[in-house]
Parts: sequence; C-alpha cells; structure tokens
Amino acid sequence: MALLGLLVLSLFHVSLVGSHTSSQHASSPPQPAGEQSPEGSDNLSFPWSRLRLPRYIIPLHYDLHLHPNLTSLSFTGSVQIQIDVQNNTNWVVLHSKGLKISKATILDQNLTHLSDKVLPVLHHPSHEQIGIFSPRVLSSGRKYFLCIEFGAELAKGFYGFYKSTYRTSTGETRTLASTHFEPTSARMAFPCFDEPSFKANFTVRIKRNPELISLSNMPIVKTVEAGDDLLEDQFDVSVKMSTYLVAFVVCDFKSVTATTSSGVQVSIYASPEKWQQTSYALEVAVKMLDFYDEYFNIHYPLPKQDLIAIPDFESGAMENWGLTTYRETSLLYDPLTSSISDKLWITMVIGHELAHQWFGNLVTMEWWNDIWLNEGFARYMEYISVEATYPDLKVEEYLLHTCFAAVGSDSLNSSRPISSPAENPTQIKQMFDTASYDKGACVLHMLRHFLTDDVFQRGIVRYLRKYSYKNALNQDLWDSLANTCSEEDFISGKHCYSSSQASKNAYLFAGEHLDLTAMMNTWILQKGVPLVTVTRKGPHLLLRQDRFLRTVLPSDPLWSSLQKGFLWHIPLTYKTDASNTIHRHLMTTQTDSIHIGEEVSWVKVNTDMTGYYVVHYEDGGWDKMTKLLRQNHTALSYKDRTQLIHNAFQLVTAGHLSLDKGLDLIGYLQLETHNVPLLQGLGSLQAFYHMIEKRNEIDVTRKLRMHILRFFRAVIDQQTWSDGGSVSERRLRSELLSLACHLDDPPCLERARQSFKHWLQSKGTLNLPTDVANTVFSVGAQEDRGWASLLHTYNISSSAAQKSKILFALTCSRDANKLHRLLELGLEGKVIRSQDLSSLMFMVARNPQGHRLAWNFVKKNWDTLVQRFQLGSSCISSIIIGTTGHFSSPEELAEVQLFFESIKEQASQLRATRVALDNVQKNVRWFQRNLETLRNWLNQQM
Ligand code: BES
Ligand code: ZN
Repeated sequence: MALLGLLVLSLFHVSLVGSHTSSQHASSPPQPAGEQSPEGSDNLSFPWSRLRLPRYIIPLHYDLHLHPNLTSLSFTGSVQIQIDVQNNTNWVVLHSKGLKISKATILDQNLTHLSDKVLPVLHHPSHEQIGIFSPRVLSSGRKYFLCIEFGAELAKGFYGFYKSTYRTSTGETRTLASTHFEPTSARMAFPCFDEPSFKANFTVRIKRNPELISLSNMPIVKTVEAGDDLLEDQFDVSVKMSTYLVAFVVCDFKSVTATTSSGVQVSIYASPEKWQQTSYALEVAVKMLDFYDEYFNIHYPLPKQDLIAIPDFESGAMENWGLTTYRETSLLYDPLTSSISDKLWITMVIGHELAHQWFGNLVTMEWWNDIWLNEGFARYMEYISVEATYPDLKVEEYLLHTCFAAVGSDSLNSSRPISSPAENPTQIKQMFDTASYDKGACVLHMLRHFLTDDVFQRGIVRYLRKYSYKNALNQDLWDSLANTCSEEDFISGKHCYSSSQASKNAYLFAGEHLDLTAMMNTWILQKGVPLVTVTRKGPHLLLRQDRFLRTVLPSDPLWSSLQKGFLWHIPLTYKTDASNTIHRHLMTTQTDSIHIGEEVSWVKVNTDMTGYYVVHYEDGGWDKMTKLLRQNHTALSYKDRTQLIHNAFQLVTAGHLSLDKGLDLIGYLQLETHNVPLLQGLGSLQAFYHMIEKRNEIDVTRKLRMHILRFFRAVIDQQTWSDGGSVSERRLRSELLSLACHLDDPPCLERARQSFKHWLQSKGTLNLPTDVANTVFSVGAQEDRGWASLLHTYNISSSAAQKSKILFALTCSRDANKLHRLLELGLEGKVIRSQDLSSLMFMVARNPQGHRLAWNFVKKNWDTLVQRFQLGSSCISSIIIGTTGHFSSPEELAEVQLFFESIKEQASQLRATRVALDNVQKNVRWFQRNLETLRNWLNQQM
C-alpha cells in the first residue's frame, strides 16, 4: 500500500515537469509571518498540476469555526474536514485563496495525529490550491480528519467573506460581514474542496460580540460563552451540499418572521431602520415556499429560510441554502417609494432564489459548464411561481422578453452553446450570462409546451427526486423527462412510474420516433437561434431553417461557413385563419413542407412564441401580416402580435426585411390596446432613437422624435400621473411618460416640472406617485438646483428603491460635468456605492451627452475596474457591453478594437469583448443599410 502511495507521489512529480505550475510558489510556499518553514517542505514541489482537484479524496463533513472581528476587519478560523481517501496518497490537495494557513494536521479515525509535527503546506496561488503533505501515507478506504487553522482580512470586494457597511439616520457607520461564494469563492473564507460535486455536511460555529447576531445556513442549536466577552453560536449540521452554497453573516440586523404551512420558519433580515420595508418580502417568501413544496412535491428540507438584504451586494441575489442574500432593491419593498416594477422585481427575485433551493441546491449540476441547469430553471420557475402566487402581476407578459433577450445575443456570432466548457474561475464566472439564464429558460418553455405542463412537471419532479443531494448532467434531465427508467428505478418503484402521456403528446409532433435527447442536444449543445423562413406555394407551406445572424447577410462571403453544420429539431406550431386549432410539426431537416390547404389566407408560425426561433415570411408574407394587423389585429393573440413586431425588426437589423416594411407593420399600433405589443413597438422605435440621437443627424433625430410623439399622442394623453390601475396599465404609463419627457414633449415636461416643484417645496418629503417618480426626477434634474437637491436626497434616503430612481434621474442631466462627477463618485464608492457603478455607467452611456464620457472612463480606469469587480464577473461584462452598445460608426468600432488590443491578454479571456464588437458592427451595418430609408420614410410621414 505504502509503495503505491509513493508511486502516486512520484507520478505527480513527473506530471509537474514542463507544466505551467509556478514552481517558485510551489517550492517555497509563502509562510505566515513568524512561522518557521515546516521541516522537510523545502524539498517538496506541488503535487498536482490540474485546475480540478483529484477525485480520490472526498470531503464528507466540515466542522468550521470562525471568528470575524468587525473592528480589525479580519477573521480567523479553523476547519476540521472529514475526508474519505480512495487511493493511497501522501497529499491532500484542496482550494484556498488569500488565506494565511497557520497550521495543518491530519488525524486518523481515532483522532490520533498521524505525525507529531505540523505538516508542510504548499501553495499554488494561480490554481487557488494548497497541498498538505503527510509523511505517513493516507490509506485507501480509510477516513481521516484534516485540520487547518487559517486567517485573513475581510475581503474588500463582493466575494468571499467580505465587509459591508451602512449608515444610520444619526450618521453613524456600522459594519457587517457577509459571504458570497458562488461560483469559486468559498475558498476565500476557508480551505475547502470548492467544486460543486464535492457535496458534504457542514457544521458551523461563529464567535461574535454579544450585541451582534450571526446567521448561517442552518438554525442555531446553542450559544455558549467563549471568553473575552464573546459568544459562540453553534449551528445545526447542514444537509449534504456544495461549498458554493455555504453562507454566514455577522451583523446587527432586525428581522420579521412567519411560518409556512409545513412549519418552515421564514425570516426577513434588514438593517435596523429598514425593517419596516420587509413585510412584502415575508409574504412573498412564505407563499413561494408553500407553492414550491407543492409543485415539486418535495418538502423544503431545512427548518428555516432567512432572506437578508446586504447593503453592499454585487449581483441581484444569491441562493445560499437556508440563508438567501439579496441586494436591498431585490428584497425591500417600501410602499411609499417602490414602484410596481420594483414590486414585480422583488417578487421574481424571491421566486428565483427559492426555486434554487430545489434546482441548484437539492440537485446541482455536475460542473459549471451546465450552470444552466441551475439558472435556466430558476429563471423559468420565476414565471411559473409568480403566475401561481401573484396572478395580478401578470408575469407571463414578460416571458417573451426573456426569449427576446436570448435571441438578441444568440443571433451574434460571439454567442455560445448553453452548455459550454469552463475551467478556470474567469471562464466559470462568465457562464452566468444570457445563454444560461434566458436562453435556458426559453428553451425550457419550449420543452414544456412540447411535452404539456403536466408531463413537464412530473418529469422535473422525477429528476429532483432521483438526484436529490447529488449532481446531475443534462442527460439525466432528458431521461427523467422522457421517463426513461433505469432497471434500478423500476425495481425500487419509487421515482419512476410509467406515464404514457409524454409519448402520447410527442406523437402530436413526431409520430413514434421521438428522441428527446437528440432534439434537446440541438438546443443545448449548439449555439445560435434558427430562422425559419416560410413561403406559401399553393396548398403547401414551404419551410427552410438557417442559423439566424444579425451581422451577416447571405451575400456575405462569410455566410456559408457560418451556417455550416447548423441544424435544429424545431417543434413548430402555427395557426391559420381556417381554424382555431394550433397545428404542430416537428421540423428536423433543413427544408420541409406542410400541407395547409388552398383556402387558408394567412398562416402565423410559432404560436405565442412557445418556440425558440425567429420566423421570416417571404414573398409578400410580411405584407399579408401587415394587412391582417390593420384589418383585424385581434385575430392574433397579443403574444403573436408582439412576436411579429419583434421578429420584423430583428429581420430589419439582419438585412432580410427593409426598414419601411417594419415601420409599416407597426402602423396598426394606433389601434392597439394591449400594453405588451404597444411597448414592443415603442421599444423598437426608441432603440433607433437612442442610437440616432448620438449621431450628428439632427434632422432625422428631430423627425423621428416628432413622429413617435404624434403617433402615440392619443395614448400618451390618456395617461394620468398617478399610481392607479392594473399592473399592465401602471407599467405602460411609466414607460410612456418616461419616453414622452425624454423626447421633450411639452405637455409632459410641463406636468413633470410642476410635480418636481411641489416635491422641492416639500423638501423631498412629498411622495410622488411611484411609477412616474423616475420621470419627474429626470425632468427636475435638468436644472442645477434640482440636480443638487436630488443628489442630497440620494445621499440621505433610507429607501434603496428611491435611491435607484434618483440615480437614474441624475444620469439624465445634459451637463457633461455633472455626469463626470457621478462617475467619479461611483468610482470613489462612498456616496454612490461600488455595487451601483456598473449600472451607473450604463445609464450615463445611455445619455447622448454621456456616452463618450462613459467609454473614456472605462479606458482610463480599466485596471481599477477589473480589480474591483474581477475579470469575468457580470459587472465587467455589463460595463464593456453597456458602454459600447450605442456606438454605430466605423470610427467608433475601430476605437473599441484599439482599446481591446491594448488590453489583449485580458480581452482575450472575455467573451464580452467579442459581444461588444459584434454589437457595434451590427449598429454600423444598421446605419449603412437603414439611415436613408428611415430618412425617406419619415419625410413621407410629415
Ligand atoms: N446564483 C445566482 C447568483 C450569482 C450570479 C452567482 C452570478 C454567481 C455569479 C443567483 O441565483 C442569481 O441568478 N441572481 C441574479 C438575480 C436573479 C433574480 C436573476 C443576479 O444576481 O443577477
Ligand atoms: Zn440564479
């Protein structure tokens, strides 16, 4: 046995030769100050050259002790990890990042030390790993305890065990410490096997001052005195889970609590003066947990669920098991200042994070390449759960936008398959993008429609049961959905029951030979979105599928190479004027045809956009749609109308349809009463406007502005400046008035100025109608005095909802100096928190007076930005994409390229740089193709 151990060891040495391991770090590990180099370690070199840990040491249980000190802003800790050794070895390799390791020992099952000396610890910083050397071989089949003592500063950013602060109404600054681990930052808080498939149980103990509280995944089982006036909270042992879901917080927050039907204690925590804003979240969380318990038919397994609003939080929220963490705007609802959109957002975020308690926490993807199994599902469950628990919010009206967002990025060449390789932390962080979230959700929506709600639900319940406390691959999901039972399943009779319904329904599409895996692989393993082109030929509908690309036309020499090999199994649906039925057809070849009959006058493909594909109606097909909408638009559902508008303008951008045809199509909108197609049409025009107003095209800009205002005059005039009405009405009002004022509509400006004057006179105490506050503030921000008052209110407001409205308004100023000041404040991170910098930059870039400013700011402060947010984070991606998104000239394209060249090493690791270039390229082409058409079209309208 010992011999085998030595062999394993020597093999590791061999594998090191010529590897990119930084042998400098490996052979001379940085020693904590005052520590002696452990005997013998000088001759050792790091035993492991891969990014992923060896699979033959399995962590079973972590006993974790932590003592954060909120005054010195540091923490110390110790961890005892029970490991199961499955190969003889002298080494334990695990993750650790930025931790000072002061001591490592290994004990056997009887808690006897394997060595009487402190063990050598080698560091491999670029892989964020440490290796602990045991002079005695750890034997295969045995269990050991690995004990490590460590310490570090509380992190300054938003990952690991990090510091956050808030200010009380008396001006006092208070500190708290919180964690964010996903995807790879648990290793910043304690040494661990930081990969999603190393699931283990965790017992956490935290030392704290008596006036503070501590929270972790599980409830406290006891609190004991720990000397030095400290208390130690001991939390119950957790269920088996991945390291990225561990969480702890030490703070002075207050909470409200309620209980679900099945007895789970739900609490909402917020800083003491904000606890009045917690009641809505409490109601939502209780309802959602009850809903998921029933929908998944699996009880939430922990005795409690805490939801906490952390003042400094980089993303939107995080699903740590039993202790979900949120940005304040994602959790706190203030009846006086939160708008209907804020309310909807909070509801969806809670729905999302609680969905993860099953999708992600109970069943976890095997590796980060399939993070869509977490995020795509959680995004999709937002819609299912909010629809069921808060039907008045009409959440289904937004689902199309999730799909549109997915199509938007998937129709650029820079896109990626939903499931794509990711190894290092920078690559892994970039997996949290539109492909995983939005395309994931949209493809699941397609699948649910294909299989029917009931079969889909039963399939995912089967998947959740079968892989509970385990990890899953895509194939496991397809098998569960298709009800392909393994022999073992049949024998146990537990998780797999025969349902002929899935196949019965599939017959509707595919006849007898449905291969769900083959079908789903075309959506998950292949990037891009199909364009289905339909043509009428007598009684037939001819179909062709291509990859839809917005930057490349068929005439482009690149076209054929970019199309090569792409093929999808598309569950097509269509409706005609001949009947009310939804027809189905599974298209698995590049061209195909369907018999629809001679008598049919129109065919609308992709009913309610339940399929993830764009449709092009060739040979006068779009003219027919335009006519239909003008004559009888309610013959189509609001979703169908919205999708037609979306598809038409996508095709315009791609060069398949001329702009005037698109503009003609939305001509019917003066008859439209549904807010979703109205907003879609408005949004398309607004998108052009935002681009054109940043170019020196004064005449076109003015005419487009006049056209939009004239065209939507009646519906703008119908709006009241209040919070009354249904959710849809409120949302439409908010969008319309914001656009009208942005377009300098005199009645809108007048009304907003009046309201702002009253608000100023009240010294900010008057509560404006929440849905129009944005607009009122942004008009008020045009005057120096208004801007200064808003900045002052921003600084003292205790409502995150209010602050985000004001920050938006401040970025609407036309004074470049003010915009610059905002960016500087964001960089400084005091008045404007760092967490808000990326959205601040996005908003400044939206402003014609700010878009160059924002870009120059990125170039000037690039290193600082990367350091603060980490390469690969969503913040860095949105900074890159958000500050270049409005560029549309070849000169601007060249400038962006030049900057990316100058940061080549980083740029090459970032997908966002390619997305940004694709985007600008797309805008450049849009101008080349459409500017004259738009000019002429507008002239005709005058
Ligand atoms: N698991 C994520 C949090 C996360 C995001 C971790 C990025 C690591 C990298 C969480 O469930 C999530 O998806 N949060 C969203 C908000 C949510 C409502 C869509 C986010 O933070 O953007
Ligand atoms: Zn999520």
